[in-house]
This record gives sequence, structure tokens and C-alpha cells, in this order.
Amino acid sequence: MSVKPINVGLLGIGTVGAGTYTVLRRNEQEITRRAGRPIRITRVADKNLELAQRVTAGAVAITDDARAVVNDPEIDIVVELIGGCGIARELVLEAIGVGKHVVTANKALLAKHGNEIFALAQQKGVMVAFEAAVAGGIPIIKALREGLTANRIAWIAGIINGTTNFILSEMRDKGLPFAEVLKEAQRLGYAEADPSFDIDGVDAAHKLTIMAAIAFGIPMQFDKAYIEGIAALDAADIKYAEQLGYRIKLLGITRKAAAGIELRVHPTLIPARRLIANVEGAMNAVLVQGDAVGATLYYGKGAGAEPTASAVIADLVDVTRMHTADPEHRVPHLAFQPSAVVDTPILPMTEVETSYYLRLRVEDKPGVLADITRILADEGISIDAMIQREPGEGEEQTDIIMLTHLAREKRIDAAISKMQALPVVRRAVIRLRLEALDK
Ligand code: HSE
Repeated sequence: MSVKPINVGLLGIGTVGAGTYTVLRRNEQEITRRAGRPIRITRVADKNLELAQRVTAGAVAITDDARAVVNDPEIDIVVELIGGCGIARELVLEAIGVGKHVVTANKALLAKHGNEIFALAQQKGVMVAFEAAVAGGIPIIKALREGLTANRIAWIAGIINGTTNFILSEMRDKGLPFAEVLKEAQRLGYAEADPSFDIDGVDAAHKLTIMAAIAFGIPMQFDKAYIEGIAALDAADIKYAEQLGYRIKLLGITRKAAAGIELRVHPTLIPARRLIANVEGAMNAVLVQGDAVGATLYYGKGAGAEPTASAVIADLVDVTRMHTADPEHRVPHLAFQPSAVVDTPILPMTEVETSYYLRLRVEDKPGVLADITRILADEGISIDAMIQREPGEGEEQTDIIMLTHLAREKRIDAAISKMQALPVVRRAVIRLRLEALDK
């Protein structure tokens, strides 16, 4: 066994970069025993030289010129932890172009530019590894790409954004409104200073796009994802859902349907008795349904310095082991052989079939319920459960909450517009989606 170290150039030594540096050093012996040779970060590039100096304590060459690291002939693997789709994209393409392997945690980059990046990597015979891009420390890419390779994947449903899961947990636990909990999340450092990527569901959609590609052998199609965040969620609906035996989670769902692939992120009612419904706080979890294995559930920390470093280093070990292998003998980037990737259409949201939670604020008088159920019947939508809040003393309006059986989204849209036109319906109808997650 060769003992020559493999040399790593680290681009970005922020939270995850520093975690990677620390864990690699702390567990050096174990990692070397596993990888077959030492893995050494020999160069670090960061705009903040003082930070880089502080983390590495002078043990490594530091620079603010990332291109110098990418083009250094001594570097075997480039680890990109800069984030975003600007300079990070340029550097990743440049590194691949000069024949370096790349490890990245950059989900936005892969979801939006993955097709270009993997095509170039294929052409150049290098590896691009990205375990840290989805659900932080949870080895979900490894599981989907290798562990579940015997299966036809039916669907994946994931809690893949810790910030929003923390917010939803707090809203339910403490009955607080969204805006107040968001402030708390910011104070605790969970949410970004600009938390819109988290709360609008975009971060989850990036991760979902990547999982869908490797689960179904399709290209990255982030621009076709349906994305709805949690900002408009009302604490009242969390409470009503609970009364009906459900929790509301921001789920990323991808499913292979007869006519195409569903790719959607939205607040979702799920039965409270499911394990995944009990994933609280900033934790992540991914539920995968395979035809042979059935349901498997992966749980852990989806963010943070060392959990994410754990995934980055797993990739470094993989690349180190496979470095000298013929490219054809490596696990394909997107799990399927590049020639076998099929451009299956992503279903528009109107064609998706799921169950629904509807809440209507109505005048409390005879015939109202009959009008509403007639509209649903006319659209072929069947009701599964219903509650009506008892109006308070002197109140003339009340809430009706209904759960439906499976229905196509366009039929629900049509029913909602008809309901909205009834004079007895006094506010915008609230519509949430519901997933049983049982088969
Ligand atoms: N902002 C992300 C989250 C971090 O809250 O889960 C990792 O992508």
C-alpha cells in the first residue's frame, strides 16, 4: 500500500471548512486506516486570511487566490465550500477542466448547474462528490446511489431544511406565530441573516432536485420544481391538523407517477404516528420507499460544522480509494450510467395527485355545508374527515376543516375557486397538502 498522502486544496474555511479541517486532523489515524493513505489539506484559499490563519494555526499554506489552489499541480482534490453559483461554479469547472477531483457541499450549484458539471467531469474522467450537499451529515447520497441500488424507488419524502423544521416545531410546541419563531431562530443562529432560502423552500428544493436525479436517473431540473415555503402558514392550521392526528412539516417530495415525476416542496400534513412526523427542531430526516426494501428512514443533523464535515470527509475517503480506478469502474455521479439517464418529464403541480386539508371561514347558517360538499362532489373529490369548530358566544362565523381523499390538484383548484365564490365563505380558503406516507 502506498503511503504517499493525497493532497487536498480547500476553497473556503468558514463553518464547514473549519469543521472539515478539524475533524480530518483529529481523526487522522482512523481516516488513514480506512482510506489507505493519508488525506492532507495542504492549501487553503479564503478571502479572510486572518480566519484561515486562525483555523490552521500556520500548519498549512494559505492564500486568498482560489485559482492558485485549483491550478496547483500538487493538489489532487479540490474541496469547494464557498457556496453559491458565482465564483464557486467557475472554480469547480476550472478544477475539473485541469483534471482535479472535486468534493462540494454546494446544493444550489449542483441543482442548477449539475448537468453541466457532471458532463464535464465525465469527459475529464474525474469524480465530483457531493454527500454534504443533501441533509448535511446524513449519508443519504450513499444510501440512494449504492445501498438501495437494487430498488425501483417509488418516492422520497424528506425534512431537508433544519431552519424551517425548527420553526414549525416551535410553532406547534408553543403555539407561537411564524414571525415570532423566526426571530428566535435567527437569535439562535439557525436561520441565515437573510433566511428566505430556508423559509421559502428553495434550499429544500435544491436538495430534493439532487435526490430526484439520483433516485430516478433523470437530469437535474430545479427550475421545474414546485416550491412553497412556510411563511404563510397559520398556527391555527397546525392546531387543527393536530386535532385530526397530523403534524405539519415542510417536506420535499419526489415521486415516480405514471405520467412523470413529481418534484415538490410544500408544507405537508403527515400522520402524527409516523416516525418522520416526530423529527423535531433543526434535525433532518429522509424517508425512501423502494420496491424491494420497502420504507427506509435516515435521520440526523442536516447542518453544522462537524456533521457536514463528516459528509465532506466521507467523500474525500471515497475519492482517495477510487482515485486510481478506471473511471468506468467508479460509481456513476448520478447513480445511473450517464448514457442511461432519461429525461422523464417533471409533472406540473396541477397534475399531481395527493390528499388535501381545506379550511374555510364560513357563516354559520343552514345549507352552508351542503353547498361546500356539493362543490367537492361535482369535482369528483371525496371527503375523508371533517371538523367544524363550535362558534364562540355571539359569533356568526366558524371554521370548517376538511380532509380529502386523493384528488388531482387541478380539481382541488377548481373546487376552491367555486367555494371562494360562495357569499357565505368569508375569507380565502386555506389549502394544504396531505401525505399518508404509507405506500
Ligand atoms: N440552511 C440549511 C438548513 C443548512 O437550515 O437546513 C444546510 O443546508
